Amino acid sequence: MKSSSAPQLSSGHDSLERARMFHLNIEDSAEMSTSLLALRVKRMALVKACLSSAVFIIAAALFVVSMNRVFGSWNLGKSNQRTRNEYHRDYLKMGCNETIAMHLRRLTDEPHVAGTAENFATAEYVLSTFKMYGLSDAYYKDYNVLLSYPLSRSLTLSSPGVETLRRFELREKEVKGDPYSSRSSKAIPSFHAYSPSGTSVAEVVYVNYGRVEDFRALERMGVNVTGAIVIARHGKIFRGDIVKNSARAGASAVVIYSDPFDFAGTVSEGNYPLTKWLPRSGVQRGTVFQKPGDPQSPGWPSGSSTRDSERLSANDLKTMLPSIPSLPISAEDAQVIMKSLGGPLAPPHWHGGLDLAAYRVGRGPGILNFTYVANQTTVPIRNVFAVIKGRYEPDRYVLLGNHRDAWTFGAVDPNSGTATLLDIARRLGKLAKQGWQPRRTIVLCSWDAEEYGSVGSTEWVEENYDLLYSRAVAYINVDCAVAGPGFFTSATPQLDNLLREATKQVVDPDYAPQTVYESWFAANNKSESAMIGRLGGGGSDFTSFLHHVGVPAIDIYYGNDYPVYHSLYDNYMWMEKFGDPQFRRHVAVAGIWGIIALKLGDEDILPFNYENYADELQSYTVALESQLKAAGTPPHVSTSPLHDSISDLRMAISKIKIEEKGLQGIESHFSDFQYWTPQRRAFNDRLLMAERAFTDSEGLPGKPWNKHLIYGETNENEYGSSSFPAISESLQKAAQTNASKQWLALQHEIWRVSRAIDRAARVLHGELT
Ligand SMILES: *[C@@H]1O[C@H](CO)[C@@H](O)[C@H](O)[C@H]1NC(C)=O
Ligand SMILES: *[C@@H]1O[C@H](CO)[C@@H](O)[C@H](O)[C@H]1NC(C)=O
Ligand SMILES: *[C@@H]1O[C@H](CO)[C@@H](O)[C@H](O)[C@H]1NC(C)=O
Ligand SMILES: *[C@@H]1O[C@H](CO)[C@@H](O)[C@H](O)[C@H]1NC(C)=O
Ligand SMILES: *[C@@H]1O[C@H](CO)[C@@H](O)[C@H](O)[C@H]1NC(C)=O
Ligand SMILES: *[C@@H]1O[C@H](CO)[C@@H](O)[C@H](O)[C@H]1NC(C)=O
Repeated sequence: MKSSSAPQLSSGHDSLERARMFHLNIEDSAEMSTSLLALRVKRMALVKACLSSAVFIIAAALFVVSMNRVFGSWNLGKSNQRTRNEYHRDYLKMGCNETIAMHLRRLTDEPHVAGTAENFATAEYVLSTFKMYGLSDAYYKDYNVLLSYPLSRSLTLSSPGVETLRRFELREKEVKGDPYSSRSSKAIPSFHAYSPSGTSVAEVVYVNYGRVEDFRALERMGVNVTGAIVIARHGKIFRGDIVKNSARAGASAVVIYSDPFDFAGTVSEGNYPLTKWLPRSGVQRGTVFQKPGDPQSPGWPSGSSTRDSERLSANDLKTMLPSIPSLPISAEDAQVIMKSLGGPLAPPHWHGGLDLAAYRVGRGPGILNFTYVANQTTVPIRNVFAVIKGRYEPDRYVLLGNHRDAWTFGAVDPNSGTATLLDIARRLGKLAKQGWQPRRTIVLCSWDAEEYGSVGSTEWVEENYDLLYSRAVAYINVDCAVAGPGFFTSATPQLDNLLREATKQVVDPDYAPQTVYESWFAANNKSESAMIGRLGGGGSDFTSFLHHVGVPAIDIYYGNDYPVYHSLYDNYMWMEKFGDPQFRRHVAVAGIWGIIALKLGDEDILPFNYENYADELQSYTVALESQLKAAGTPPHVSTSPLHDSISDLRMAISKIKIEEKGLQGIESHFSDFQYWTPQRRAFNDRLLMAERAFTDSEGLPGKPWNKHLIYGETNENEYGSSSFPAISESLQKAAQTNASKQWLALQHEIWRVSRAIDRAARVLHGELT
């Protein structure tokens, strides 16, 4: 258990000391006990043995090579394959929950928001751990980016006829038995990143989840939102969209709370620390600006201390960021505010779990006096990388990424992922010591400032756009590695089979000896198509890889029910009690995440399957057709371009499958890497570039940065996953207006998607027309 009397070290120098101490501890542990001396003795013996047999070995090698030249059938490829699979099996056996728990504890010792000294200390920890595990090619990459911190917050409630003014403390409370929660003064006050500063004194209106349909309902009820301060509950859409919808409805400020119905346990269950549920004083922090990257450098990389870069003017910046101020609040405080409301009864499904006679929408008579002052400031952030260079194809990259910055302690979000990434580093370091080197380069990425809108990953991807475009094989993201039981994943469809295969090799930590695959399959009612989500929504570091560049991507997590999200209670104790009491789910994620990387990094032919992609595209088209029908679409709007291009895609896929069989034949026949590498490389390049073909240089309408036409966000909810985003948006517009111009725009978007599918088909086919 973490003791609250642990020394608090925060300056950079101290943290360096601390990082050194951790490493001593690790090296002391049984796991690393092989002494250096023993190693030296062994090595000397080996050298002697090698010298005495060197002459024989050279002669034998010369003989084999010459025989090989003559007969061309000695099977180096095969034997290498076996060795590779042995390494992969070894990787899976190396799991260690103790070191993962240890890393998580170190990483979450203190709150570490992006841009703070505490988060620089975590960067140092990650870098030195990479190096300690033998990944010597490890380094930092910094950017100066616009972040935002709270300077002052004030919220008071007055009600006509009520004498006393209620001043809210806006502070999460200590819970008994959780030493972390007693250090709330170390955590950043609850706030919304990129909220503008502002003051408003106004009557309150309850807007349910703050969705477009909620505001429409208020309009029908005749409730005037103009100038009001709205109170919304979290839970259905991205908080930034709640603010956007509120501003559009004319609100002057927004408070967002976590309703017990969505976040708390029943009265008999109770909340944390008794259960996993959010205490009544818990508050969800977060950004209200979701466009990926530094808002000052949309589409291009930010500068650093050594290199300046262009920045938007303050005026241009202002038009991009949210226009009205907002604050997150607790259920406890929301209860008092909601009690002050009169006006019409809220519709039944707007009622939550607050202790109220009834949920009313207002407006007023309760009046909030709201003030928020932000410090928007350009500060350095730090990505950390470890590169394991590929032996045969060093210029092909398999990238694994997780962010490191947290709103508070970040035991789930994101450092369960960081601790897991460090375990992968440990295992790969061990394999490397045994002689393994991947075929392609594997890059471990520890991103900064994800919580502010995937800033660290986006700036880096923008800076390396062309190299990633031409060389990245896949990006595998883990944000919150573990929040509870059950495996969840989303991916681009050509990686579906790889994901399934990987989960068949890892034992379910909760239901051994069953594999993760078996439990996952059962949890989805044995429907393969329900098992894998898609990556249309943003919200983590895969966004820039997939939506901007078109790199095939996977996102993985364990457990999807995590009420203490972005609160003070997302700490090591919550993880130990509820998230992963034995840290074996973490081990499972390290197994799956790492084995996927090994397969992508080592297999001669990339384990991509585009049939799944074609099937998905087909099902999106069928779904689109029923939406078109329901919207009363005029008959001249046609989906046949989509059918034509999907059928071309299927033809290209059959061709590539035949070619793949041929290449496997080559492998079993020829021995020399040099001989067959170029053919396979060209073949693999078609597989990896086909995803790029789904991007379009113009991007989505009004969102030129979002280049992917198959997967992307819709405007009303940036967390919502959507396929054919531009088509669904223009369909919505056309259905609303029934204007012929809009129906033509819809047809245009259908053509654009169909052309993207044509391009993918051509890349897979691999011949000029
Ligand atoms: C809504 O309230 C605002 C501010 O009190 C007022 O200016 C506006 O006229 C009202 N709108 C309607 C339709 O009543
Ligand atoms: C609102 O609160 C601020 C800060 O506490 C205070 O200065 C101001 O007088 C208040 N305004 C009203 C109308 O109560
Ligand atoms: C805003 O934040 C920056 C960076 O942390 C800090 O240097 C500056 O003093 C802050 N400004 C104010 C007014 O506190
Ligand atoms: C599986 O079936 C059960 C019972 O019909 C249903 O409640 C559940 O939502 C289904 N789960 C999934 C993932 O489809
Ligand atoms: C690691 O797993 C073992 C066996 O399942 C368990 O006894 C131990 O407590 C776990 N360690 C941690 C830190 O949870
Ligand atoms: C849309 O417009 C067309 C022609 O302009 C008309 O025939 C049709 O009835 C309209 N549909 C709806 C749902 O209003």
